[in-house]
Amino acid sequence: MDSIYVTGGRPLKGQIHIAGAKNAALTLMPATLLSDEPLTLTNAPRLSDIRTMSVLLQSLGAEVQPLQGGQVLALSSHGLNSTRADYEIVRKMRASNLVLGPLLAREGHAVVSLPGGCAIGARPMDIHITALEALGAKIELKDGYLHADAPKGLKGAVVPLRFASVGATENLLMAATLAKGTTVIENAAREPEIVDLAACLVAMGAQISGAGTSRIEVQGVDRLHGATHRVVTDRIELGTYMLAPVIAGGEVECLGGRRDLVASFADKLEEAGVDIVQTAAGLLVRRNGERPRAVDVVTEPYPGFPTDLQAQMMAMLCTAEGTSVLEERIFENRFMHAPELIRMGAQIEVHGGHATVHGVKRLRAAPVMATDLRASVSLILAALAAEGETHVSRVYHLDRGYEHVEDKLGAVGAAIERVKGE
Ligand code: UD1
Repeated sequence: MDSIYVTGGRPLKGQIHIAGAKNAALTLMPATLLSDEPLTLTNAPRLSDIRTMSVLLQSLGAEVQPLQGGQVLALSSHGLNSTRADYEIVRKMRASNLVLGPLLAREGHAVVSLPGGCAIGARPMDIHITALEALGAKIELKDGYLHADAPKGLKGAVVPLRFASVGATENLLMAATLAKGTTVIENAAREPEIVDLAACLVAMGAQISGAGTSRIEVQGVDRLHGATHRVVTDRIELGTYMLAPVIAGGEVECLGGRRDLVASFADKLEEAGVDIVQTAAGLLVRRNGERPRAVDVVTEPYPGFPTDLQAQMMAMLCTAEGTSVLEERIFENRFMHAPELIRMGAQIEVHGGHATVHGVKRLRAAPVMATDLRASVSLILAALAAEGETHVSRVYHLDRGYEHVEDKLGAVGAAIERVKGE
């Protein structure tokens, strides 16, 4: 397993290119299952989660060809030969469950293992199941697998979700494109990745309105055709690198960044005293001199503050002036980074879904361990401001969601190095 070493205290200056969104790509890729014509995705991120989804799709008989170093993915499902998503692949990544809706819609049958993924709470599948059952599917749980059947095809319905789950909205949206009649998703998730999925499905011939609002309407069609689609910018990678100069000092322009993708997060940074400027090429973030101020954060479904930026925000607040309270409302058990940050001298108290952070002037380097994807990057961010050399071990989580983090931060002046196989 690789490790990353960071020597803190160097201000940053320069530009960082923000990749296409992992979470968008992970739902756009299974969309290929809906059609027997090719789907081409451009601006794809180069991440191990994308490779896991490729392996899963290939295990179903789909073709996945990475082109241009992986930035383009050429997908085709004309030769599907399986409807079973095996535990050995699914356990590596929860987003594997996104093959359920499209397989069911196209093949009338799917067997999908219950997922694993980040250890950040229970993460059940009940909303996905209830939603697909509302379209007429019969779903049973046997031996850790969901067995889903719709032999006569799916039928449109009005489907209220008990919570605006991102994955359930995506599964239902994909399934509804080939269902008979009209489906209305009420309390749909509104994340930019949903809007991106809908745009891709429309390019494939689907009839969808309302994506990005809480009410999505889908008019089922008989078949979808091929398309080429550009993956939206990764707002979580964007937010992560926006925090780097806030923590280390200096200024970084995040190329491809758009404020509308991270509005609630950007508002919080400004409240903390950070300068953010939308430039022609992206978002410029600046902190010269003064420490950022403490701010309170509550994670919520989009357009609220994203849970996937909570750990990174906490890393920043560790050295802010004053006391901040972070409330995690999406996932229980998502403060695993707190004990690691405490090892670096942070003053944090966790009580259930709340963390209180008393800002200190400086963190100190320590050996720390990455526990999940966003937690691992939060430790690297914290290390940018720590005194001495921080050793972050078990960074394989990081490679699930961040391409070449050491190159991107190194290029703007951070002292960061990856050591292989440590
Ligand atoms: C997606 C993102 C993930 C992000 C999360 C919330 C992908 C690949 N992953 O995950 O990075 O952190 O959105 O923004 O896009 N829940 C249920 N029952 C269900 C489904 C979900 O109770 O059937 C609960 C979960 O346990 C969790 C909450 O709903 O507490 C949010 O989950 P959801 O929005 O479904 O997240 P994911 O789609 O898994």
